[in-house]
Amino acid sequence: MKCILKTGWFAVTILVFTACKGQSGNQQPAEAEKTAANQPVGGYCEGCELIYAGMPATMAALDTSVGWAEPGQKLLVRGTVYKRDGKTPAPDVILYYYHTDNNGYYSPGPGMPEKAKRHGHIRGWVKTGADGRYAIYTIRPAPYPNRQAQAHIHPVIKEPDIENEYYIDEWVFDDDPLLTTEIRRKMENRGGNGIMKVRTSGDLQIAERDIILGLNVPDYPQH
Ligand SMILES: [Fe+2]
Repeated sequence: MKCILKTGWFAVTILVFTACKGQSGNQQPAEAEKTAANQPVGGYCEGCELIYAGMPATMAALDTSVGWAEPGQKLLVRGTVYKRDGKTPAPDVILYYYHTDNNGYYSPGPGMPEKAKRHGHIRGWVKTGADGRYAIYTIRPAPYPNRQAQAHIHPVIKEPDIENEYYIDEWVFDDDPLLTTEIRRKMENRGGNGIMKVRTSGDLQIAERDIILGLNVPDYPQH
């Protein structure tokens, strides 16, 4: 999948197409890098390292994105992160998210780390507590202006006991007409299925998204 980045904060306009990360497998490291010794959990993930760009020193289980105060459908995504058994809550897991704005752009914001601008200004982090729970208040992303992809939120996981960060299924919306049968069929179900059913409570849409660490994640270690 390609991302669309709108450069320039006030201005209009240069559209740059850039790879989001490794979901589509359309960018791969050099063969020499793909040795058993350094094969990262989850495989190559282009852009996942931006989890560290601007990461706050402390993170909580609840985050409110800057998008929350912007025009758009208000959205709460919440759930529990479980260990691989699907039952035990996983504490101290960092979940990084980023998504397009209400116009479908990864629009950079003022003060952002330069290298993170490709992820746009609507991004943030949560870190699970003992109960594995997390909650993100944001707005529902718009699909890219060319409408060639379903609206989505990119989630990246960093576990305390795994050296590298890795991506899980994009969070997408079951009621999105761009989420075709073909796309649904091809989803990898990394960390569980990323298709979210949304319910409405007043002005808020609420989506539940539980995550099972390691589920369908290549080279995930046995615990
Ligand atoms: Fe994207």
